[in-house]
Amino acid sequence: MGSKVWKKYVLWFAHDLVDFRMAEISSLLSLLSLDMKWLQEPADHPFWIVQMHSDECVMKLAARSISLRGVVDLWGYSDNIEDLHQQLKTLDPACYQPYFQPHLSFKVEVETFSNHLSMDELIQKIEVFCFDYLPVVGPVNLKSPDVKLWFMEYYGLEPNNIPEKPYFYYFGRWIIDGQRHLMKKFSLKTRKFIGNTSMDAQISVLMANQAKAKSGDLILDPFVGTGSLLVPAAHFGAYVIGTDIDFLTLHAQTRPSRITQKVRAPDESVRANLCQYGLENRYIDVIVADSSLPLWVHGFELDAIITDPPYGIREPTERVGSHKIPQITEEQAAKHIPSKIDYGHDHLYQDLLHFAARHLVLGGRLVTFVPFFRELYCEENLPKHPCLKLVANSEQVLSAYVSRRLLTYEKVSAVNTEVCVERALEPSLDIFRVKYFNHCEESRQVRRKKNSGFRGHVNSDSNEKSSVASETSTI
Ligand SMILES: C[S@@+](CC[C@H](N)C(=O)[O-])C[C@H]1O[C@@H](n2cnc3c(N)ncnc32)[C@H](O)[C@@H]1O
Repeated sequence: MGSKVWKKYVLWFAHDLVDFRMAEISSLLSLLSLDMKWLQEPADHPFWIVQMHSDECVMKLAARSISLRGVVDLWGYSDNIEDLHQQLKTLDPACYQPYFQPHLSFKVEVETFSNHLSMDELIQKIEVFCFDYLPVVGPVNLKSPDVKLWFMEYYGLEPNNIPEKPYFYYFGRWIIDGQRHLMKKFSLKTRKFIGNTSMDAQISVLMANQAKAKSGDLILDPFVGTGSLLVPAAHFGAYVIGTDIDFLTLHAQTRPSRITQKVRAPDESVRANLCQYGLENRYIDVIVADSSLPLWVHGFELDAIITDPPYGIREPTERVGSHKIPQITEEQAAKHIPSKIDYGHDHLYQDLLHFAARHLVLGGRLVTFVPFFRELYCEENLPKHPCLKLVANSEQVLSAYVSRRLLTYEKVSAVNTEVCVERALEPSLDIFRVKYFNHCEESRQVRRKKNSGFRGHVNSDSNEKSSVASETSTI
């Protein structure tokens, strides 16, 4: 491994879900057994200069990553344009000769990050490279060139505070796009069966990558809802299965969540979603079941668990149970619908980790979201299990107060039945809901006061409805 060559590349990331980049790339490097070295400390900005062994390795990475816009074979980079030109003028011809051939068409793409340049300005920049010194010989083809050369000027992350000159310049050969197209392919807008809590396409793919989903894996979502997390896992070749406590959701008998849709189509289902993408052969089944009472036999093994448990905001966190001892006759038993009781977050995550520790293969992963009231977040209070190692923790900020974290655990040792799962310390995860609703109530009262001062009366009903809708719109 040590004698292999290293080549320089730019990884260009889409500028969203910044906290998820490193987690995704690390998971994919591990899944694909690829080596990578960072030439610059990975930063918040979307260009990472890295070294990998070959274009083939880079292509494998980009063929899975949804954070990546693309990867460039780096020919030069500098914070000074003269220096960049000098680097390119003295570039080893072996870098470009295979691509500068009479039969290979080419195109130069000039991009500016955080800044906008006119077409004339862009063309001027292109001409400096191509007609001053780079020995390009093939025809220009702007639509589908054989070779795409790429020049990027990076003006920082603040579009409202653009420096006169870019902070950095990059030049190279575009190698491959990342998987951003999956956002359109798996968009919820065109998904057959969705609900209020369906996960968007980008995060679903990120979760499948965190789980290192691969061909032949068996992957479960124990809070499956409309099955949005199963879709990318199946796309990457895993067999998928789900459980959910809510019969009506699983049977698509809840009210449609699209404003334009009055009634659910008769064929809406999790299976139909997988069929929609040609993934029916990866679908095993979905089962109505309470995750606090796992129905799996001892020895049932999963390669990964990917899930988004209820936060108790849009849907209740419940489990089967009763505060009274139920008196059910034998005749009633077949049709009996068990009552439900509250399922606190502390217990829910404790059960989930315990379940993962028992049923994951060694090295298998649990990928789950956990909601937090941001000011109460502290790492020591994350759910823990002695057999599971937390390998990634990425925050998605939902509002000034609330965020959710995507936690990835890897099973590192077999379960010892004596092991007692640790409960979270104070403040516990259960506080999330209480704080959330208190906060909603407080902001509602502030708004009411403001409105009453302004209008001279309180329209409490409409205020209440609109404030709840906006507060809960993201979770
Ligand atoms: C945030 S939603 C998950 C949405 C899902 N990712 C989707 O694509 O629609 C949480 C789901 O957990 C289910 N749920 C709540 N309590 C449960 C329990 N005790 N056991 C199993 N499922 C439960 C809810 O019915 C809901 O569908």
